[in-house]
Amino acid sequence: MSTHIGAREGQIAPTVLLPGDPLRAKYFAEKMLKDAVCFNEVRGMLGYTGLYGDKRVSIMGSGMGIPSLSIYVNELVSEYHVKTLIRIGTCGAIQPHLKIGDIILAMATSTDSSINRLRFSGMDYAPTASFYLLRRAYEEAQLRAVNAHVGGVLSSDTFYEDDPEWWKRWAAYGVLAVEMETAGLYTLAAKLGVDALSILTVSDCIVTGESATAQQRERDFPVMAEIALEVAP
Ligand code: HPA
Repeated sequence: MSTHIGAREGQIAPTVLLPGDPLRAKYFAEKMLKDAVCFNEVRGMLGYTGLYGDKRVSIMGSGMGIPSLSIYVNELVSEYHVKTLIRIGTCGAIQPHLKIGDIILAMATSTDSSINRLRFSGMDYAPTASFYLLRRAYEEAQLRAVNAHVGGVLSSDTFYEDDPEWWKRWAAYGVLAVEMETAGLYTLAAKLGVDALSILTVSDCIVTGESATAQQRERDFPVMAEIALEVAP
């Protein structure tokens, strides 16, 4: 057991997929892994290990935001020797050419979080994806009937912004979408010497105000999990 994860030594695979929502971890594990066994229920942050083909893979919720994800990433790597972390989450697109259900592979992250400003004494750090995982994920995405985009995302600390126009500055500088975790994931992966990638599905178009329907969620969200499972070493 670690402080926030109830798994025993050896119960977590070297590759962990991290959806934000623990119930999505359960859904993907039950739907896509063979012989999935639950290794964590602490705080309801469900985690499972099972087989994808002959690969042993884990899927565990990260919670929402950099602080929650950071707790789990620290413990997964330091206490359970995880080597590869792949976030599978949703994002809000801030470019007009992006549509609900599109896949975004986050090459780099900007953030409005102060976490790295504090860590680097006021200087800026550029959290980036593992090139190996990014390239593999792009190849896998191209094999599927899905629009895949590679570029920068914004990891925000705020879901409900005061200013309705807040996203326009980021959009003007080419950022594709907003989510809430990737800057924390890439920073910790670099610090801890492991590989990380965020594979995101567009669930909201902030430009038009459109959100994914229940039907679109069911059809589109498994695609990012499939890509992540294929890419898992
Ligand atoms: N903001 C932040 N994170 C998100 C959003 C959003 O609009 N949509 C999905 N994840």
